[in-house]
Amino acid sequence: MNALETTPTPIAAPVGILAELTHRCPLGCPYCSNPIELEQRAGELETHDWMRVFSEAAAIGILHAHLSGGEPAARRDLVEIVAHCKKVGLYTNLITSGIGLTQERLKQLADAGLDHVQLSIQDAAPESADRIAGYKGAFARKMDVAKWVNEAGLPLTVNAVIHRANIARAGRMVEFAVELGARRVEIAHTQYYVWALVNRKALMPSRAQVDKAVAEVEALRETYAGKIVIDHVIPDYYARYPKACMGGWAKRTLNVNPHGKVLPCHAAETIPGLEFWNVRDHSLGDIWFNAPAFNAFRGTEWMREPCRSCPRKTVDFGGCRCQALALTGDARNADPICHLSPHHDKVSEIAATFDEVDENVPASDYNYRMLKTQVPA
Ligand code: SF4
Ligand code: FES
Repeated sequence: MNALETTPTPIAAPVGILAELTHRCPLGCPYCSNPIELEQRAGELETHDWMRVFSEAAAIGILHAHLSGGEPAARRDLVEIVAHCKKVGLYTNLITSGIGLTQERLKQLADAGLDHVQLSIQDAAPESADRIAGYKGAFARKMDVAKWVNEAGLPLTVNAVIHRANIARAGRMVEFAVELGARRVEIAHTQYYVWALVNRKALMPSRAQVDKAVAEVEALRETYAGKIVIDHVIPDYYARYPKACMGGWAKRTLNVNPHGKVLPCHAAETIPGLEFWNVRDHSLGDIWFNAPAFNAFRGTEWMREPCRSCPRKTVDFGGCRCQALALTGDARNADPICHLSPHHDKVSEIAATFDEVDENVPASDYNYRMLKTQVPA
């Protein structure tokens, strides 16, 4: 045994906070990372609650505030929230579908100190993009928003989730991001939990499609070197090792949901028996260091074999707890994406059922995530 295995590591402060300001959203993406039971508008944290949360975040050493949703632009106090984050010294990243933003509002956000915008796109083909989003006109609106972001002088990242209906255009989406003026593009193959797990049958591409898309995107790195940074998240179901989900459970980031519940990851509520604390009852620092849900899978002590004796355990932390639960029935198991997991055959079986797929997915095949909102014009 080496020292790393025997010495308890002190808990470091988180680097980032993902603030789900609301679960309301005009879009209905079938791979949404929000929980199946979406939080209703009644019960959302008030402006002053969020301000206290961000003050506490800065006080414990958090650097980045990711303002997310749902659609964060559905909150009428978004400019006030950004201004407060700026005041307490947080770097702010607005994660948005773009719907609900106007040129005027973007300018107000930039003036309030917003640092960065991350705009989601559903596809590089307009009709398909609108079908995936479940919102007619979304594609055209996003083109406007990208232009306004550039005009406001804000750095832009474009984010595209890849699945069967758009995988043929994975490379095209990198080019599209360049055309939109983005400095960074994230091409992220779908992770199958919560809504994406519900929709897996309609979303999962074949192995051949994945191989082609991955090669295409990788080849573009050279083409666009110096023009755009490409973040490429490779699909799990065809990998040999899992990813360090969230950079390790309760290691780098935390999520605050619209009602103030603090979670170690998007899907943590799917894990039975975890006790989550709320910012209405505890300070953010108390929650990070002491909440039972955060300590449940922190570090490596909780691990079973094969992770317990694996040299990669401080690299991937056994993968994703929520995926382990979804596919093996127990969150303490190794993520079955890992080829060393005794449950890995489940992943191989699922992947094999998608060897032949038709990329023309009709909208009727999707279970859209729905909690519609009237966004400010
Ligand atoms: Fe990661 Fe566990 Fe697999 Fe080792 S056995 S690579 S720690 S998931
Ligand atoms: Fe919960 Fe990966 S989504 S640990």
